[in-house]
Amino acid sequence: MNPAVREILELVFRWIHVIAGIMWIGNSLLWNWIDRNLLPAEPGKEGEIWLLHSGAFYRMEKNLAGWDRARPLHWFKWQAYTTWLTGAALLVVVYYASGGALLVDPAVRELTPGQAVGVATGSIVGAWLAYDLVLGRAISRMGRMGAVAGFALVLGVAYGLTHLLSGRAAFLHVGAMLGTLMAGNVYRVIMPSQRVLVAAAERGERPDPAPSKRAKERSVHNNYMTFPVIVLMLSSHFPDLYGHRLNWLFLGILVLAGATVRHILNVRFTLGRWKPALAATFATTLGALFLLLARPAGSRTAAARAGERATFAQANAVIQKRCAVCHSASPADRTFGAAPGGVAFDTPEQILARVERIRVRAVETATMPPANKTFITPEERAVLGRWIAQGARRE
Ligand code: HEC
Repeated sequence: MNPAVREILELVFRWIHVIAGIMWIGNSLLWNWIDRNLLPAEPGKEGEIWLLHSGAFYRMEKNLAGWDRARPLHWFKWQAYTTWLTGAALLVVVYYASGGALLVDPAVRELTPGQAVGVATGSIVGAWLAYDLVLGRAISRMGRMGAVAGFALVLGVAYGLTHLLSGRAAFLHVGAMLGTLMAGNVYRVIMPSQRVLVAAAERGERPDPAPSKRAKERSVHNNYMTFPVIVLMLSSHFPDLYGHRLNWLFLGILVLAGATVRHILNVRFTLGRWKPALAATFATTLGALFLLLARPAGSRTAAARAGERATFAQANAVIQKRCAVCHSASPADRTFGAAPGGVAFDTPEQILARVERIRVRAVETATMPPANKTFITPEERAVLGRWIAQGARRE
C-alpha cells in the first residue's frame, strides 16, 4: 500500500475508532451505573432517578410497558457497530496490509504473511462462532464458574497466539477477539431482544421474557470484557510486556485485573468494603507485573557487560544497517513512513539520546526490527548490548 494512503487511512480509522469506542463504552458504563442507582418508583414502574448535568436537573424513569408513542424512541447501537467496523479496518491497514511486518516474528514462528493473516483472522472468526453458538450460553449457565471458564479460554487463546504471531499482534488480536464477541452480542442478541420488547409494547402485550434474559446474560459478559479489551487495545505501547518471553502470562494478568476491577466497581453499591478490595487488586497486579518484569542478573545487557569491548563505530554500523532503513528522516523502507515512532538514527546524537530504548527494543525484548525485517543477527544484538552495558560511549 502507498505509505501516504496507509498513514491517512490509519489516521481516519483510528480517530473514528477511538471516538466510537468512547461513546460505546461510556454509554455502557453510564447505563450500568443508572441501573444500579435507580430508586423504587410508583407501582408499574421499575424505578426512577434524578441526575444533575450541565446546568440542569434531569429525571429518568424505567418501565417495561412501553414509551410515549407520539415521541421518538432512541436506540443505541451504532456506537458498537462503528467501533467494530473501524477496528476491523484498522486490523487490515496496520497488520494485514503491511506484508506481515507487524504480524510475524520469525523468532516466534516462521509463518508467511498469508499464513499469519489466516491465523489472525481465523482466530477471531473461530472464537466468535464458538462463543456465539455454544460457549456463550454454557458460560452463563455455569454461574460463577463461568467466569473461571471464560478466563481460562482467553488464556488458552493468548497462549496459542503468542506462540504463532508476534507478541504485539497476539495481544492486539486477543483484544480484537473480545471486541468482536462484544459487538456480536449487540448485533445477534441484545438488539433482537430490544426489537421483541418494542414489538410487544406496540401490541400492548407483555414481552416474552426469554430474549430479555438472554440479552441480560450477554450484556453481563460485555460488561466484564470492557476493561480487558481497552488495555489490550493500548498494549502496543508496552513492548516490555508483549515482547517478554512470558507475554501470555502478562496478558492473563491484565485481563484478570481488568475484569476484577470491573467486578468491584459493579458490586460497590452493595459491597461495603470495595475500596480496600480495589486497592488490593491494584497492589497485587502491579506487584505481579513488577516481579515478572524486573530481570535481575539474568538480563541480557548485564551479561554483556563482561564481554569484549564494543565501540560506538561497531554499534553504529549495526544501527545503520539494521535500523536506519526505517528509522531515518528519509527511510529506504517506507512501510511505516518517515522515522516510525518518532525515532530517527541519522546522527550520533539521535542514537545516544535513545540508548535506553534501543536496549529495550533491540536487546532485551527483541521487538525491533518488527518481524526482524532487516535480518539482524543475535551477534549484532549482542554488540548493541555490550556497547550499552559498557556505558554507551561515543568512541
Ligand atoms: C521495518 C522498519 C523498522 C526497522 C528496520 C526498525 N524499526 Fe524501530 N520502529 C518501527 C516502527 C513501525 C515503530 C513504531 C511502533 C512500535 O513502537 O512498535 C518503531 C519504533 C521504535 C522505537 C520507538 C518506540 C520505543 O519503544 O521507544 C525505537 C526506540 C525503535 N523502534 C528502535 C529500533 C532499533 C534499535 C532498530 C534496529 C535494531 C529498529 N528500531 C529497526 C519500525 C522499524
